[in-house]
Amino acid sequence: MEMKARDIEQLRDEVLEKYRRYVNPGIAALLSFSGLDIPEDRAEGCYIYDASGRKFLDCVGGYGAFSLGHLHPRVVEAVKRQLEKEALKSHYFLSTELADACELLASILPGEINYSFFCNSGTEAVEGALKAARIHTRRPEFIGAINGFHGKTFGSLSVSGRDVYKKDFHPLLPETKRVPFGDADALAEAISERTAAVILEVVQGEGGVIVAPDDYFPKVREICDRAGALLILDEVRTCLGRTGKMFASEHYGIIPDIVTMAKALGGGVMPVGAFSSREDVWNSLFGSNPYLHSTTFGGNPLACAAAIAAIKTTIEEGLVERSARLGEKLLQNLHSLKSTHPDMIKDVRGKGLLAGIEFFEEDVALLVIAGCGKRDLLLAYSLNNPRVIRIEPPLIIEDSELDRAVNIIEESIEETAQLVQSVSS
Ligand SMILES: Cc1ncc(COP(=O)(O)O)c(C=O)c1O
Repeated sequence: MEMKARDIEQLRDEVLEKYRRYVNPGIAALLSFSGLDIPEDRAEGCYIYDASGRKFLDCVGGYGAFSLGHLHPRVVEAVKRQLEKEALKSHYFLSTELADACELLASILPGEINYSFFCNSGTEAVEGALKAARIHTRRPEFIGAINGFHGKTFGSLSVSGRDVYKKDFHPLLPETKRVPFGDADALAEAISERTAAVILEVVQGEGGVIVAPDDYFPKVREICDRAGALLILDEVRTCLGRTGKMFASEHYGIIPDIVTMAKALGGGVMPVGAFSSREDVWNSLFGSNPYLHSTTFGGNPLACAAAIAAIKTTIEEGLVERSARLGEKLLQNLHSLKSTHPDMIKDVRGKGLLAGIEFFEEDVALLVIAGCGKRDLLLAYSLNNPRVIRIEPPLIIEDSELDRAVNIIEESIEETAQLVQSVSS
């Protein structure tokens, strides 16, 4: 039942006040300023509804989590069925759900990557991957990329590449280095016999949808092999079809040593993360003590039910191919936007349904996002490169909905152009 305008205002004020007093005053100020301060109420498919019943087309997509959209019926059904049986386990007995989820994941992971550890988030997956690389190589150092993003716990933050999120938390992990993303020569120079692992996203997401040259990852693979270092590919955002391949590494024809995943792995219904590797790495991590790395909630039956349903749905609904096809069309449309607005748009890039528009000015990107919000379209801001707005819709989005999103972006760019002109004249 829809709420009356006065009730909605009251609800907004109450929730904002609770944010100010108990959650995060900065977020309260930001959402209030942007006008997007009516609480979110429900979501379904590609749409989010606020408490007033206003309907938004969701091209933020949980920053990759809603590849299947919101409340995909197959995932909801699988989780409900599991909930009627058992929600969480102590992992005292064997878990059929965990065994099935790991087996299914092994069937889609590249190469000989057959073992998986389930956790609850992307950053936990990265922490596990770093530990696995340390114990396998017995080396201290990690190399990440400038503007890379791997999460905000200490290990993940240490290998991430933007100082604003790191500077107040030192000391972080010692012996971490950063190299420019896409520059194989710089990596070759930085790597040494002290390097345990190189950790990279395949497409930098929060860095502003940065796509590496075609020969970059094959070279990275070779450089790591030569130095005896492991290659960790962080596919937290790109796993399960986001870039038009099941795993983004497939674009480059290489196989990493360790893969991290999260976001879409939970089917948009449960928080699920995982890291996976080969038998030799698993032996190093768990061979002498099977509990050397563990978690209370990771791999719980609800999460496993969601992951199994998410993987099967992605395959059976042909969403990887869909992402590739729609992504190509989206990129073409963004290129024509760029040619209409060469003075505002510096670049457009993407792979599959992970696309970005880079503006010359950060303020312009913010105004365009706000203009889209006004027109009921949600787009993402990039943490490590605020001049870039990201378009990460559910992979189930219809052609017509994606066309509508592009039209709204165009309207918002035009409105912003007029505003900028009126301020500068
Ligand atoms: C590539 C990548 N790695 C790790 C993370 C951290 O994931 P989480 O927020 O689930 O901890 C993110 C989050 O955006 C990400 O994009």
